[in-house]
Amino acid sequence: MRPPSVKLKVLAMIDKLDELAAVFGSRFLLEAAPDNSLPEHGMPAVDAMRLIEEELVLDGIPARNLATFVTTWMEPEVRRVIEANLHRNFIDHAEYPQTAEIEQRCIRILASLFHAPGETTGARCQGSSEAIMLGALSLKWKWRERREAADKDTSRPNLVFGGDVHVVWEKFCRYFDVEPRIIPLQPDKYTIGPEDVEPHVDENTIGVAAVLGTTFTGHRDDIVGINDLLVRLRDERGLDVPLHVDGASGGFVWPFLYPDSEWDFRLEQVRSINTSGHKFGLVYPGIGWLVFREKSDLAENLVFYENYLGKTDATFTLNFSTGSAMVLAQYYNFVRFGHDGYRYIMETMQANARVLAERIADIGEFQLVGHEGDEQLPLVAFQLTDGHDYDEFDVASQLAAERGWMVPAYKLPPNADHVTIMRALVKLTLGHSLASKLADDIAEACETLKKKGGLHERDRKRVKTGTGY
Ligand SMILES: Cc1ncc(COP(=O)(O)O)c(C=O)c1O
Repeated sequence: MRPPSVKLKVLAMIDKLDELAAVFGSRFLLEAAPDNSLPEHGMPAVDAMRLIEEELVLDGIPARNLATFVTTWMEPEVRRVIEANLHRNFIDHAEYPQTAEIEQRCIRILASLFHAPGETTGARCQGSSEAIMLGALSLKWKWRERREAADKDTSRPNLVFGGDVHVVWEKFCRYFDVEPRIIPLQPDKYTIGPEDVEPHVDENTIGVAAVLGTTFTGHRDDIVGINDLLVRLRDERGLDVPLHVDGASGGFVWPFLYPDSEWDFRLEQVRSINTSGHKFGLVYPGIGWLVFREKSDLAENLVFYENYLGKTDATFTLNFSTGSAMVLAQYYNFVRFGHDGYRYIMETMQANARVLAERIADIGEFQLVGHEGDEQLPLVAFQLTDGHDYDEFDVASQLAAERGWMVPAYKLPPNADHVTIMRALVKLTLGHSLASKLADDIAEACETLKKKGGLHERDRKRVKTGTGY
């Protein structure tokens, strides 16, 4: 008898391995993961789970991601609520009326937190980006209504905002055909105020957007000043220009840390506000909110009325189907924490941000961005002092290499783009001892860089240079 060929031997071995894999482990330990087309055959549920889990070890650890504003930890109890409600499609209001009611409660709670003068309306969104698209669309449509009523040209709408906004504002302008009037930052001023806004506003301005807690440094625009300017333009020149506040992060911070600081519907021209439930609202991604000052601030034509399963349903969203779990998680946080709880959490983050700021300043290599007493998100923005052989990108990379911290380094927008800063968000997962450890690690990274010099060009490509979300 002839001995079996090598090929047959290998096939026999694979058969044997397949047999063993069925008992002891996944066959995907022996094969590449499907990455191009739908696999011919399926696999056991446990294998599919392991395949995915195995790959995800290459992702960053969210708790060490100090670039993100988004929630990376929630309590086990709310995780139960989330898990138990993953199968509900939020948009099916008729089938899930109680979820729809809970959404409305959240909107009412936020409207009251933001000092809406009376009954109003709003929308649950996928995040602040959708909320901004919808809010800005309403600005555009309301402007068009006013112009048409006065028999005036409606072909050249513009929107005024500072270079300190999130890129979503430019995206809105491009997608929805509005001229962006972007006010450049100044070399040493990273937010905008009324004097910056005034030259850009005219009869074609659909609105002004101001930021409460910028993505770059966590500060706020001079919202009171911009409101006063718009009130004056209305009274003196008859230009009724609404103000939208982008409170993606700040909307859940200012009411608790700076309750006397006016930025919301206490100011007359503030007509709409967005905030991200999944940032300092302390919910996992994706949930955002849009709240109007009054019902009449929402352009009625943007609301779709449909007959769905025999009931009339009104929707004001870009998406239809989406999960309802995060709406419930938002409501959970509202009732779980209440006003006192949110304040306690925000104060805790702020206290730890201060500890981190002091410790970073003590290293002696950095200066903090901003001034003591500034109203700011719980974060630390800092930059190297002059005279180093390495830069902020080097520090970010060294820190990632030595300890896995994701602390971004980035350049500010024009005309402050000569400035590079680093920024660490201080959230609930960065308690006092971890914040101190982070400061030690930053000091250590600087020591390493002093000895070995800055990064090789190739390493630079790996540094996180975006501001994060
Ligand atoms: C000020 C600001 N506006 C809008 C956004 C976009 O928000 P979201 O990621 O919730 O869509 C962000 C995200 O970081 C932000 O910081």
